[in-house]
Amino acid sequence: MNAFHSIAGRLAALFALAALLVLSLLGVTLDRELASVLERQQIEQLNTRFQDIDYVLKRLREPEQWARIHAKLDAVTPPDHNTQYWILSDDAQIRYGNALAEIVGISQGTSSIGELRVGGRTEPLLMRSAYFPADERHASFRFIVGVDSEPYARSRRAFRSVMVASVSGGVLLVALIGYLITQWGLGPLQRLSREAHTLSPSLLSQRLLTAQLPTELSDLAESFNGALDRLEVAYQQLESFNADVTHELRTPLTHLIGNTQVALSRERSVPQLVEVLQSNLEDLEGLRGIVNDMLFLARASLGERPHELLRCSLAAEVEKAIDFLDFLLEEAGVHVQVQGDAQAPIESSLFRRAVTNLLDNAIHHSPPGAEIVVELSAGDGQARVSVANPGPVIPAEHLGRLFDRFYKVDAARTKNGESHGLGLAIVKAVAAMHSGDVFAASCDGVTTVGFSVLNDAKDSA
Ligand SMILES: Nc1ncnc2c1ncn2[C@@H]1O[C@H](COP(=O)(O)OP(=O)(O)O)[C@@H](O)[C@H]1O
Ligand SMILES: [Mg+2]
Repeated sequence: MNAFHSIAGRLAALFALAALLVLSLLGVTLDRELASVLERQQIEQLNTRFQDIDYVLKRLREPEQWARIHAKLDAVTPPDHNTQYWILSDDAQIRYGNALAEIVGISQGTSSIGELRVGGRTEPLLMRSAYFPADERHASFRFIVGVDSEPYARSRRAFRSVMVASVSGGVLLVALIGYLITQWGLGPLQRLSREAHTLSPSLLSQRLLTAQLPTELSDLAESFNGALDRLEVAYQQLESFNADVTHELRTPLTHLIGNTQVALSRERSVPQLVEVLQSNLEDLEGLRGIVNDMLFLARASLGERPHELLRCSLAAEVEKAIDFLDFLLEEAGVHVQVQGDAQAPIESSLFRRAVTNLLDNAIHHSPPGAEIVVELSAGDGQARVSVANPGPVIPAEHLGRLFDRFYKVDAARTKNGESHGLGLAIVKAVAAMHSGDVFAASCDGVTTVGFSVLNDAKDSA
């Protein structure tokens, strides 16, 4: 059963089946041909025997000649009796052979040739007979010659058993050869499979060797290698993501532990302890912020969609975000101006989260007294939000990576707690959840960062 689960086993069985069909057809054809050749030979033998005697009988002149004919028939009857002669007649002088006792049955069509069943023989005799009507020289009689068909039947039986034996042997041989050939042909596949077994995350740059593979397999191996390339990139991203997460979490944790150890190093008054706890609380809230952001990004990358999309004014949502950041704006001494409006189906909490992240960045990177411009527009089936602020120009090589997780243009400048590099990654995730995209530009002292959302209805500005 198991053999049929392997390609070699299946092909061997198919080869064997094909061989069985071909060889059987050949065997049947040969058997038919042999049978007709043997029959012709048999009839020829019969005719020769018959004509020898028929010739004599037709030239019969004197009744005394019957004794000589009987003697001749005795002489030509071979000792093994594979040819037998009979003369059937009412006249006892003419009669030859004990037909009444010997002949069990005669089957003869219209031709002179037929079959004769003789007691004591398994195979019937092939026979030819001729009727001689009575005339002035003798009474009527029938002359019969029978030739034993047993040797011919034996030849056919022998041929058949040889044929069956060689067909079975041939089929087995073809199956075996087919199996070996397929095994050999599948060698490269087995090598490929062994190679694939050795692949592991610790050997990420390893690839399958495609050089010596047959064309059918090299395509497969190349697509497999392509998949490995993509996996390697994804794996490296995951590794660096892990390193980033660890790094981001370690700084506040070290701070927390240090603070607590210092506080515990000697007796503290209640107000001192309250101060320590407050500082710790800030660190813990920062940690919770990172964990929440990471959780949000993880859900988004697993394909989580907005729960409910409601068509609303984007300007109104931006105003709510600005209200939320009121205190921060006042502290930084910057002002926000909202230009234009657009309607689009959004989940407002997600949209506000993205806008808040953009405004937060703009506030942190603007000089005091600066004006931030939020522009809303619609077109090409998208509604766009862009936040522009004056500030130092971001070099072009960083622009494309701003939206990567944990990416910071100037990692050294960011202080603990405040900046983790997840804000713009969240903006990108929110845009993707609304079938939109992100964009960033920085030139002439103005940095513009924004995103779009799908706006399937008619544009409205
Ligand atoms: N308006 C902006 N002006 C200048 N740089 C910006 C601005 N917005 C984002 N950046 C840069 O992009 C980086 C990534 O931003 P973000 O993902 O929000 O992380 P974070 O603000 O926590 O650093 C920031 O560290 C900063 O270097
Ligand atoms: Mg930010």
